[in-house]
Amino acid sequence: MLRTILISLLCGTVLTACSDESAAPAPLSPALEQGKAVVQGLCINCHGQGINNAPILGNPKMWEKRIAQGEEVLIGHALNGFNMMPPRGGNPALTDEQIQRAVQYMISLVPAS
Ligand code: HEC
Repeated sequence: MLRTILISLLCGTVLTACSDESAAPAPLSPALEQGKAVVQGLCINCHGQGINNAPILGNPKMWEKRIAQGEEVLIGHALNGFNMMPPRGGNPALTDEQIQRAVQYMISLVPAS
């Protein structure tokens, strides 16, 4: 019984927080929107769940050291492949710009520590 009340209280708070417009995430730039489309259409197949130890989207522990290498290195690895990471995520039709934006979108998903 108490549990039910607590849960309803919690839900009420969460709903209030969601309706507060200042808490809404900032809209993505067009470049990041494009990157997001590539990530959701392809990269997420491995990076969603960490297939073959692919760093999971938005997971700070898995991305910290990789991001420390610098964006250029990450983009290079995404373009040319890196161990089990296939070049261009396995889709050679993707342009350099699409890959670059996909990597930038991936980086943007990792919360700043
Ligand atoms: C077939 C599975 C697969 C797909 C699809 C895939 N990745 Fe990966 N990716 C991996 C794996 C596995 C690693 C980890 C490689 C390692 O560190 O040995 C990785 C690592 C990376 C890294 C980190 C490289 C580094 O230097 O640490 C980036 C950036 C990346 N992927 C970007 C992408 C992008 C962008 C896409 C979509 C265009 C994509 N990946 C699609 C499997 C995949």
